Order: sequence, then C-alpha cells, then structure tokens
Amino acid sequence: MDKKKYKVAIVGCGGIGHAHMEGYNKVEEVEVIACCDPVPSAVEYYKKEFNIPHGFNDIDEMLRVAKPEIISICVWHLLHDEITIKVANYESVKGIICEKPMAIGVEKARSMVNACEENDVKLAISHQRRFTPGWIKAKELVENGEIGIPNRAELRVKDGLLNWGTHSIDGARYILGDPKPVWVVGAVERYTNKYERDTAIEDSCIGLIHFEKDLQFFIQSDLMDNEADAGKFEIYGTEGFLKITETEVKIFNSSSNGWKDVHIDLEDGDVAIGGNTNAAQTRELINWIEGGNKHRGAGDIAAETVEIMMGIYESARQNRLIKFPMQEKGYPLEEMIKEGKLELESKEKYDIRGFLNRENIDEDLYSKLRDDGLSHHEAMKTVHDQN
Ligand SMILES: NC(=O)c1ccc[n+]([C@@H]2O[C@H](COP(=O)([O-])OP(=O)(O)OC[C@H]3O[C@@H](n4cnc5c(N)ncnc54)[C@H](O)[C@@H]3O)[C@@H](O)[C@H]2O)c1
Repeated sequence: MDKKKYKVAIVGCGGIGHAHMEGYNKVEEVEVIACCDPVPSAVEYYKKEFNIPHGFNDIDEMLRVAKPEIISICVWHLLHDEITIKVANYESVKGIICEKPMAIGVEKARSMVNACEENDVKLAISHQRRFTPGWIKAKELVENGEIGIPNRAELRVKDGLLNWGTHSIDGARYILGDPKPVWVVGAVERYTNKYERDTAIEDSCIGLIHFEKDLQFFIQSDLMDNEADAGKFEIYGTEGFLKITETEVKIFNSSSNGWKDVHIDLEDGDVAIGGNTNAAQTRELINWIEGGNKHRGAGDIAAETVEIMMGIYESARQNRLIKFPMQEKGYPLEEMIKEGKLELESKEKYDIRGFLNRENIDEDLYSKLRDDGLSHHEAMKTVHDQN
C-alpha cells in the first residue's frame, strides 16, 4: 500500500535548505513539490539541484498555487516569526520545521507557538541534533542513572550565543529531560559593531543558568575558539561525568576504569546537520501530525531556550539575576545598544555571515563553483572573497 505523501515546500533556498532536502530525500512519506526564495537565481539552481517541480519568488503565490502541507523555513533568524505565522495561517499547512534560533525575543517565539496552536499546525524547531546518536545515547545513560544525579553542564560555543548557543543549551536540556530554568546570570561585551545574519550579536558572553533541582549550566560564547563547538559539551553528575558530541560519548564513573568510549552503532548519514538526522526530525513531525507523540524539538520547548538566551542578555543589561518567566519580551541586547550601555570601539558594522548575502553576486562563478563540488556556503564565501 502507498504511504501517504505529504506535499512539502522549502522557504529559503540557501545553505541549510540543502540539509532539509537531504532529510526529505530519505523520507518515503514526503514529496517536495515547491521552493521559494526572493532571489530568482537561488530558486533556479536549487530547483535544478533537487529536481523540484515548482519554484516561486513570492511566498503567498507559492502557498496559493502549491498548497503545501509541510513547510521548511530556512531563512535568516529575523524572518522566522513572520514567516512561521504567515504559513501557519494558511489552510493546507499541517506542519512546519523552522530553523534555529527560533526567534530573536521571547514575544516573537511565543507568537509562533500561539499561531501554530490556534491553527492546529505542528511546529518543530530545527534543533535537529536531538536526533543524533551521540545525544540520544547520552540521554539514555543519564536516564539509566550512570552518572547519578546530574548537577552541571559545561558548554562552549562561538559565532554568537544565538547561533551556536541555541544548539548547545537545547542539547544539554534534551539529554537532561528538558528541565525548567529558574534564573540566569549573564555578562556580555559588545565593543565592535558585530552582526550575524543581520542580527546584532555580542563579541562574547557568559551565562550561568540555574534549573530546577539545583542543576546548573555554564555557557561561554566566543571566548575559547579551540574548544568551542555547538554539539560538544560535558555533563557532570553525583556519580560520574559524560563528554558528549553528536556521534561520540565518553563516560567516567565507578565502573568505567577511567574515561571509557561508549559504543554507538553509527550508520552512514549520522551527521550533525542533514542526512539521517534531518530525516528523523521529519518523520517525528509526521508522526505528531498523525496523532503521535509531541515532537522532541517542538516550538514550546525551543521557546524556553530562546528565553534562557534572552535572560543572559537581560541580566547583563540590568546587572541583576533574572528570574523566569522574564519580564522583557524583546531583544535585550538590542535594547542595551539603544540605551548606549555598550560602547563601541569602532562603529563600522560587519556581519560574520555577510558572505551569504545572495543579492548581486557573480552567478556564473557561483554556478561553476557549485558544479565543481563546493557546498553552498563554500561557494558563497569564495564568490564574496573574489569581489
Ligand atoms: N540547524 C542548523 O544546524 C543550522 C545550520 C546552519 C544554519 N541554520 C539556520 O538556518 C537559517 C538560514 O541560514 P542559511 O545559512 O541557510 O542562510 P543562507 O543565506 O544560506 O540561506 C537563506 C536563504 O533565504 C533566502 N531568503 C531571504 N528572504 C527570504 C524570504 N522572505 N522568503 C524566502 N526566502 C528568503 C535568501 O535569499 C537565501 O537564499 C538561519 O536562521 C541559520 O541560523 C541552522
């Protein structure tokens, strides 16, 4: 018997759109019928690359004509809330996978969850690493009591708290059963006019996050380049420790005889981004749409991670410990900038992902580099470097 085919559309034909397609290509129950991007050349290349029948430059037209049931939102952060709310209100849509960071501000994240709930649309945020074998194994070990009662996690990230930090905070929360945050203390520095995919970010920051049952995470961002990694962290418990990546786990406890590699059955495509990971994320969304369990990366869980990150900024803004739920619903870093609390050494604005800007690039060079085997991001970087 034929499995039901969900009609899928992709919004944003850039880098992460490729990982979503890798996932969809492994799932029988879906058929990607449309893609959309305001940049015509982006649509054309992506359509050809993945053999997608319909391409659009306007999202309303895509919704009207293609009537997708599942939508991947693969655009920059500041557009996540607006586009999620728009598509959630479209009648054919049953499920959404929106990229991380979910939104820049607590109110925006909540409005995405509300719009989806009101329209009975299932919203998953692409914290896809929750489906990697390393993180799943670590969760199993914690639940089996292998490290006793967990009390601390150490996270080190870079390229902005919102960009990588969202994965790490989300990952440690996943492994520890999505604990509820109680308060946070943060420190932030921003002395250069730094942006990441159009969003103002800090030069560096730290945060101490306190959860129920005296569990704490310490996160540092852009302070330890060599050690920084979105998917790599340690969890400590009363009876042992874990070192975790998406594909490897090491344990130290009373029976491990020092650090021991935990055996994990890895398959081809078990990667942090794309492959089996994005496929599993899609299958769980379909199961949720069909009445199964809530998705492990559901919007309300990701909204809590947004609040934790906003709390770190708000703590620095107020020089106070911030209790949850927090009062500030916007983007505290931006508020601090407006309030003149973060003095710049130079006003020159720069974006660490500015090379991804697809407008007015040398399209012939881009196509040649892609045809030669470079990934989207590699090709975009080369094109911008040669400008
Ligand atoms: N989950 C992960 O591990 C992971 C990894 C990388 C990026 N991301 C996230 O994915 C998002 C996109 O990042 P990227 O690296 O793919 O960026 P990108 O620049 O490579 O792609 C974004 C695309 O969106 C298009 N776009 C802009 N406005 C649009 C609109 N209104 N409608 C449709 N398309 C529009 C752009 O033209 C561009 O082609 C970001 O929020 C980023 O944080 C997540």
